[in-house]
Order: sequence, then structure tokens, then C-alpha cells
Amino acid sequence: MVEHWMEWASLLLRWLHVITAIAWIGSSFYFIWLDLSLRKATRLPDGVHGESWSVHGGGFYNVQKYLVAPESMPKELHWFKYESYVTWISGFALLVVTYYWGAQAFLIDSSVRDLSVAQAIGISVGSLVVGWIIYDLVCKTPIGKNLLLLGAVVYMIIILAALAYSEIFGARAALLHVGAVVATWMTGNVFFIIIPNQKKVVASLQRGESPDPALGRQAKQRSTHNNYLTLPVLFMMLSNHYPMTFVSEDLWILVGLVVLIGAIIRDYFNTCHTGADGLRVRWQWPTASVLIIILALWTRPETLVLDARQVVTDQQVHSIVTAHCANCHAERPTIAGFTAPPKGVILETLADVQKYKAQVYAQSVSSQAMPVGNMTQMTPEERAILGHWLERH
Ligand code: HEC
Repeated sequence: MVEHWMEWASLLLRWLHVITAIAWIGSSFYFIWLDLSLRKATRLPDGVHGESWSVHGGGFYNVQKYLVAPESMPKELHWFKYESYVTWISGFALLVVTYYWGAQAFLIDSSVRDLSVAQAIGISVGSLVVGWIIYDLVCKTPIGKNLLLLGAVVYMIIILAALAYSEIFGARAALLHVGAVVATWMTGNVFFIIIPNQKKVVASLQRGESPDPALGRQAKQRSTHNNYLTLPVLFMMLSNHYPMTFVSEDLWILVGLVVLIGAIIRDYFNTCHTGADGLRVRWQWPTASVLIIILALWTRPETLVLDARQVVTDQQVHSIVTAHCANCHAERPTIAGFTAPPKGVILETLADVQKYKAQVYAQSVSSQAMPVGNMTQMTPEERAILGHWLERH
């Protein structure tokens, strides 16, 4: 029964997480666009850096940006922060429901490292905290003064995180954790840096003092990171549903490519918003496309090594599925903790296997996503036999 409530918790949290992420990313993309689309006009009030006109929902909008602040503070000032906070909180809650509650199946892979549930959860939470501390410290060193150099260092940290996680967790959890670490930086940037700095600026203006320009520079550094990390993080979150991305070895190569691809595509939009044309907006899509093709080619399944003369019998396949799948994927699962077939997928007969042919292939032949955490220790030879049979039926 408790599984039923956990499924509902999972669905509701995912719903919330997606909605708040859309709201956060939507407002963040909007402000990036707004900032870059500001143009000078002849008659702008003092202190106004530029303005932008747009039309939406039957009305015209004229937005003006004050570089420092208007002469007097408006009575009503809108802040954009809760979208980010709630995205992180709901994301963390989803991590708890999926990966901590189901640690044995989803977090721990004993062929990677034989952790206890407490150890695995401790490492997961601890790494999010330590990840933020490292990132924040690096941004505050002199390296942080050079945005490009800092970008390269942050990129290396992400790759190191992928290397470390793939030594600790199963591939699926490892990839999700790289995404979670980077997403934690993004919300950390809003919570610890951008919003507090903005508050300090507002307070000093209200006291009639001129604000410390370092506060604005630091906020800009972090919001630039958030901008370029948005697309890679979304990829890493979504890839959790695509087993071909759970590459257990060399996860860092996948992560390295994904971060590059996402940042390059983002750069295209950033550059376009400024009104730039020519080569400055022509290199991104071809480069990103080539990298995507490399990624897709690199993650393609290895050709199955099976002696061509070996005969694969229905009986063999039936025993493999009975031993490795049907204990969970049955009307009445026999593995403790499962009261219903996961995702409604039943794999008791060969006809069932055929019905879910493409999914079975993706989950347990071209990747090792199933059985979860390789709980039943399915061998590469068994995967090859199953694959051979699926290709012929
Ligand atoms: C220990 C229990 C367990 C075993 C054993 C197991 N699975 Fe699963 N399976 C799950 C769980 C849990 C999910 C739901 C995963 C999720 O939420 O993404 C799942 C999901 C699936 C899905 C649906 C994926 C999707 O999201 O569309 C397929 C297909 C699948 N398993 C195939 C298999 C095959 C094939 C085997 C045997 C080689 C197998 N499973 C063995 C627990 C198991």
C-alpha cells in the first residue's frame, strides 16, 4: 500500500517540479532576452540605459532598464526568486522519493560499489553540499575575475563530478546526480548570491549611498553561469528516462558533450537577442549538430557478441525473463517491496516480451538499465541471447 502513496507523491512532486522549472526558466529566458534587446532611444529619463517594446496578449509593453536604480524606489517592486527555490525543493523531494526511498533499486549498484542505504544517501546529500562549497569557492578566487577561464574551470569540475559519481552510484543515478549538483549551484546562485546582492544594492540606495559595484559584478558572473547551464541540466534530468544515456563507463564523456552542446545552443540565442548576424550566429547550430551526432553514435549499443551458429531457443529466453524480469514484472511480483508490476509492464510470457519488444531491448540489451541495479545479476551473455531473440521476433 505504501508504494501506492509513494507513486502519488512522485507524480505530484514531478508535476510541481516541472511547473516551477518552466516558470523559473521562462522568466530567466525572458529577462535575458529583455536585457539583450534593450535599445537606446532619444528621449529616455535620466539613469535609463535602454528600452524595449513588445506586444503580447492584446497590449503593448514598454520596458525601461535603470542600470543602477531609479531616483526613488517604486512602492511595489517585483522579485523573481520563488520559482528557483521551489524548483530546487521539489527536485530534492523527488530525489528523496525516487532515489532514497528506492535506494536499493535506483541508487545503489553493487557491481559499482557495495554501499549500505545509509551510506548511499549520506554520499548523495553530502555531495550536493560539498559540490556547492567547491563551486562557490572557485568563483570567489581570482580565477572568477576572468569569465572565460572560470567557465573552463567550472566545466572541469562538472566532468570531475561525473567521474566521481560513476565510481559510486549506478549509471542512472550517477547521471542524475551530476544534473542535481549543477542545479544546486543554479539555485544556490540565486539564494546565496544574486538575491542577497540585489537586496544590499536596494538597501544602500534607500540610504542614499551608491552601491558597491562588486555586488553587481558578482551577481552577473553567477547569472551568466545559470544562463549557460540551463540547457545541459534539463538534458541530464530528462535523460533519466532514456536508458541509452546511462553509459556506466565514461559517463564523463557524455556529460562533457552535453554541457558543451547545451551551452553552445544557448549562446546562439544570447547572440541573436543582441541583434547580431553573420558568422557570430552561424557557427552554433552546425557545431552543436555535429556534437549531437557524435554523442548519438558514441552511445549506440555494442554489437552483440554471440556465436553466429549458436541457436537461441524460446525456452532459453523464457528462463532468462523468468529469472531476471518476471520477479518484478508480474501481476504479483515476488521481489520484496513490489506489489504491482512497475510501470504496468508485465513480462511473464514470451508474448509479453514481444509486446514490449522495443522497451525491453532499450532497457536490458542496448543498456543495462534493467533489471534495476542489476539486482538479479544478469550476465552480458544473457543480454546478448535476449537481444538476439528480440531481433528475430
Ligand atoms: C527489481 C525489480 C525489477 C526487475 C528485476 C526488472 N525491472 Fe524493469 N522496472 C522496474 C522498475 C522499478 C521500473 C520503473 C522504472 C522507472 O520508474 O523509471 C521498471 C521499468 C521497466 C520498463 C518500463 C520502462 C519505461 O519507463 O518505459 C521496462 C520495459 C522494463 N522495466 C523491462 C525490464 C526487463 C526486460 C527486465 C528483465 C531483464 C526487468 N525490467 C527487470 C523494476 C524491475
